[in-house]
Order: sequence, then structure tokens, then C-alpha cells
Amino acid sequence: MPFKDPCFTIHADRFLMCRMTGIFSYLSKVFFVGLIVLVTLMLIRTLTYPSQQPNVGQCSPSDADFIKLTDAMISNFQEILQIKTIAWSSSNIMLAEIKQVHHLLEKSYPHIHSSKFIKREVVNTYSLLYTVQGSDPSLKPYLLMGHMDVVPVDDQIWEVPPFEGRIKDGYLYGRVGYHGGLEFRLKSGNPPHRSFFIGLGHDEEVSGHQGAEAISKVLAARTEDLQFLLDEGMTVLKGVLDWVEPAVALIGVAEKGAVTLNVSVEDIPSGHSSMPGKESNIGVLAKALSRIEQNQHPVMFGRGPEKALLEALAPEAAFPLKFVLTNLWFFSPLVTWFLSQKPSTNAAIRTTSSVTMVGGGTKINVLPPAAWGVINHRIHPAQSIQTVSIFK
Ligand SMILES: *[C@@H]1O[C@H](CO)[C@@H](O)[C@H](O)[C@H]1NC(C)=O
Repeated sequence: MPFKDPCFTIHADRFLMCRMTGIFSYLSKVFFVGLIVLVTLMLIRTLTYPSQQPNVGQCSPSDADFIKLTDAMISNFQEILQIKTIAWSSSNIMLAEIKQVHHLLEKSYPHIHSSKFIKREVVNTYSLLYTVQGSDPSLKPYLLMGHMDVVPVDDQIWEVPPFEGRIKDGYLYGRVGYHGGLEFRLKSGNPPHRSFFIGLGHDEEVSGHQGAEAISKVLAARTEDLQFLLDEGMTVLKGVLDWVEPAVALIGVAEKGAVTLNVSVEDIPSGHSSMPGKESNIGVLAKALSRIEQNQHPVMFGRGPEKALLEALAPEAAFPLKFVLTNLWFFSPLVTWFLSQKPSTNAAIRTTSSVTMVGGGTKINVLPPAAWGVINHRIHPAQSIQTVSIFK
């Protein structure tokens, strides 16, 4: 059969259009084949993406390190929860109560406080540093951080009294946790191999300058090189994310930084308000602050820990989300857009800038000699104070 060009038989002025349609239909076929290949590859990746969860197995009461809960342990713990170690501000901490915690710790954990492997030091009168000597001195020590103070509490939003240590429906309500695990190991004649420190500050909720900072100075003076530092944990989320069924225990591996800048405008001379110039210091400042609000810092998704978190969640997620999260190489722009829609998730992917205070003007009928505004930045781990403070 001879070749028959479908465009040849039609009128000359339609010839070109017919050829173009042919090219488009060819291109759209290529596009569709490409799309099918792409989706297939992404599906294969979704279905074969391995879970990153370590297989730790079930714990059982017959395990050597199984700590059996006793009534004495619960009442010791309740007693500590009943002490109101509130830190209102750095100059208003309930210090007598902090001292009470020191005494209760000694009473509740006798093995720790009598062990020849453990040195207890009081740092800056109210903070505590325990040095636990492990059996293998070749291993670098680590540091466990915690604190004895708590933030003030609004009784109204608690289901139970916050300082009672009440047990309700199988849960013990309160804030604070102490070293029961170490006490158990010492009691069972099984001291740790690796040395470590326990640092307990007394002003964590109001800066940590008096506690954690003082402890770090003591450690630095001994030129201790740490294997790692573990501070208090983050929350366990369940049912917070759609399509993620299991509870998710978040591990904090980075923290946002902060820098607060005070910008001021003083260029325009003051004078009587009856003869103003085109602009005032307040007007110029207002424009600048508005520009800062409208020009957010760039998205840093993929340059901090948030991408790794989503990738670790991917295998545990249900289908539509799982498909997206296992293919972040393709969906990053979409995910970034989605995260930027809510203040809480937007804060996770970029440096944020909040205008928090303004001031200016002296009198109702005087042009303001100056105006100032304060911007509080929370810095993404991939940026620095320097990158955030440059104004263009
Ligand atoms: C910001 O700076 C101005 C002077 O330029 C000062 O008067 C004002 O008190 C400062 N604001 C804050 C909150 O520090």
C-alpha cells in the first residue's frame, strides 16, 4: 500500500496547520508515555521504600533490664511532683523548693547517692551535676540534661491538680522526670560501661543562664570532650497528621536560633505638624516594617532536619501521603507550598520575622524626631545571624 500523507489531500493553506497538529499529537503521545513511566517509577519507589524504624523487639518482664514498677517508686515520684519548683522569671524562681528537690533526690535514689562511681556536685548553689564513672575509661562520656524548674501553670486547663501527682485512668499526671533507670542499674550491681554526666539546671524555663550555662562552664574547664548530649525530649504525636496512623515520637536534632533587631529612622528633621514634608520618620519606618512582613526569608526546606523527618515518616504513612513523601525529589515544591500555608508549619521551613514592638513621636502636633521598630527573627538551622541581619 503506497504511503498516504493525510495532510497532502487538503487545501494548501491548511497544510501547515495539519502538519503542526501532527507534531502536537506526536508530542502529546511522548508526554503521556513519559508520564506513565514517571508515575510507575514513583510507585515502585513508594512500594519498596524501606522503613527506617529499628527493630528493637518487644520488651518482656523476663528481660534482665526490665524495671518492675513498685509502689515505692510511684510514691517517690509523686512526692517530687508535689514540689512547686516554679520559675516565674530569672529573678523569681522558687529556690527553697529547688533545694527540697535536692533532698528528695538523695532520699529517693540511695544507690546513686552512695555509689563510689558517682560524684555529685552542686553548681551555682541550686543546679546539680552528677559524674558517673563507667567501667571502660576508653569510651568518651556523654551528657544527659534535664531541669528541676517548671513553668507557671494555669490550674484551669489541667484535668487534675498539677502539683498532686494524681493517678487517673492509669496515667500519672505531672511534670518532671528523674533518674530511676540509673538507680535500677546500680541496685542490680550493673554499673554502666561508658561514663556520663547528668546535668540538672534550676532555671531552664527562664533562660538557663544560671543553671545549664554554669554547668557547661564546669565541664568545659575540665576539657571534657563529649560523645553526645541528650536534652529533654519532644512530644509524641498521635492523630496529628492525617494518613499517619502510628504514634510518632519526635527526636529534636536541631533548634531554631533567634536574633532581635531594633531598627530606627531619624533622617527627617522634626518640626511643627502644620507644615509637614512629604514623609515622616514614622511613615518611612512603617513602609520598611511592612516590606519586611511582605518579603519572607527564603524556604530552607531540604537544608535542615525537616526533610529527613518527612522521609522517615513516609514508610509509616497511608497511601496518598506515602506516595508524596517517598518522592520528595519530585514533590518538594508542592510540599513546601503546603507547609507554608500554616504559621506552625511555615515556621519549620524558614526563618520567620515578627514585628513585635514600635515606638515614635513625642506630641500630637510635633513631627516625630525618630521612630523605631523591633523585629524578632527565629533563625532556620541552615541560616545564621549574619544572613538574617543583612538588609537590602
Ligand atoms: C530601640 O532603639 C531606640 C533608639 O534607637 C530606643 O529608644 C528604644 O527603646 C529601643 N527599643 C527597644 C525595645 O529596645
